[in-house]
Amino acid sequence: MHNMIDSYSARRHQLMAHMQQGIAVIPTASEVRRNGDAHYPFRFDSYFHYLTGFDEAEAVLVLVANPASTGAVPQGDNEKNSAPQSILFCLEKDHEREIWDGFRYGPAAAREKFGFDAAFPISQLDEKLTELMGNQNAIYYPLGLHDAWDKRVLALRAKVLAQVRSGIAAPHALQDVRFLLDEMRLIKDHLEIDAMRRAANISAAAHVRAMRATRPGMMEYEIEAELLYEFRKNGAQAPAYTSIVASGANACVLHYINNNAPLRDGDLLLIDAACELQGYASDITRTFPVNGKFTAAQKDVYEIVLAAQLAAIAAARPTGYWNDPHDVALRVLAQGFIDLKLCAGTVDAVLESGDYKKFYMHRTGHWLGKDVHDVGAYKLAGKWRVLQPGMVLTVEPGCYIRPADNVPQDLWNIGIRIEDDVVITGQGCEVLSAAAPKTVADIEALMKRT
Ligand code: GLY
Ligand code: MN
Ligand code: MN
Repeated sequence: MHNMIDSYSARRHQLMAHMQQGIAVIPTASEVRRNGDAHYPFRFDSYFHYLTGFDEAEAVLVLVANPASTGAVPQGDNEKNSAPQSILFCLEKDHEREIWDGFRYGPAAAREKFGFDAAFPISQLDEKLTELMGNQNAIYYPLGLHDAWDKRVLALRAKVLAQVRSGIAAPHALQDVRFLLDEMRLIKDHLEIDAMRRAANISAAAHVRAMRATRPGMMEYEIEAELLYEFRKNGAQAPAYTSIVASGANACVLHYINNNAPLRDGDLLLIDAACELQGYASDITRTFPVNGKFTAAQKDVYEIVLAAQLAAIAAARPTGYWNDPHDVALRVLAQGFIDLKLCAGTVDAVLESGDYKKFYMHRTGHWLGKDVHDVGAYKLAGKWRVLQPGMVLTVEPGCYIRPADNVPQDLWNIGIRIEDDVVITGQGCEVLSAAAPKTVADIEALMKRT
């Protein structure tokens, strides 16, 4: 059907249609210094990339929703002047710098390749923006995201204000462009879902690799290395977040990332790790026995978390509410906690008192997309929003049992989470990460030692 470049262009037009009037200024991320001359790996800004597909640093997208009102647009063909404009500012070609830093498009090639109406060197941004802002009613940009951009946009607006005696009006409103873009990003098109399916498949393969590699006596970081190997081997650019490889009691630390403990025979290993592919995240957790076989106690807890997860996935469907999977998972978990003697009373009483929070203290999922915790409102007008085809979310119930007097000792230090990525479809949902095994039988079969 349409290719990627067309869909970026379509997104820009959709944003300008939402804006109706005004100018949008959307910078990509900056390089971040790690120390000395070394930088962290560059990651573009998700909003900028969503609208451009352009992955160089030092670039800014400017959209003029109604250029006819701008003094800066040359007079001539009226129809052309009133068409919305997409303008890229990026680094100039520089053969000397490219010897050190590698290829860059430069404005002319970037315009051609990525389908912008115009492109200019980033060095001209302030000058051109001052012209383009003239007679626009509003500036849309990521308001409050970066101090430096807030200051710069206000300074440019002040320059336009100073031109009042030339009859040029300055924008009177500053709008956070993210409110419009968040809603657009929440519904993924088929190209995005395809990228997310491929990302999830690579991540699932990494979990399979980790299960196969795990042996008592190895270190958590050795398993992390297996995951990272599989991500990069399959072309994923980076992990979507820092991998959690947490064995034994470490699994009860929700954001454990030290990954430096030895794997002990008889312990479980919780891995929350997944890759980013072409700017799209996956997010998968699997929990399995270090020695390949669940103990009776581990299995009891595992089956409860798995039942909660399957029930939650079944509740992820169009016309259902965002919160349905969480509510459904909570009921299954609460009953399980009662059965395990972790909680007492009825399911309703456990939910009402919040007693379950000692063992399950996070929510059952989040939006997933270009960001691992992706953008998009969870409530609209005070009500959980209705799920729609194209929304992608994680389903990730868990159970984390810390040692305590009133907790059965055979359950101490069991930490389990099972996390999949699902896209809402016309009928229900598709589990993008289904290739990572999660039943006790499938995991034990995969890990069977001969
Ligand atoms: N890996 C981050 C999360 O599960 O939310
Ligand atoms: Mn996760
Ligand atoms: Mn998650």
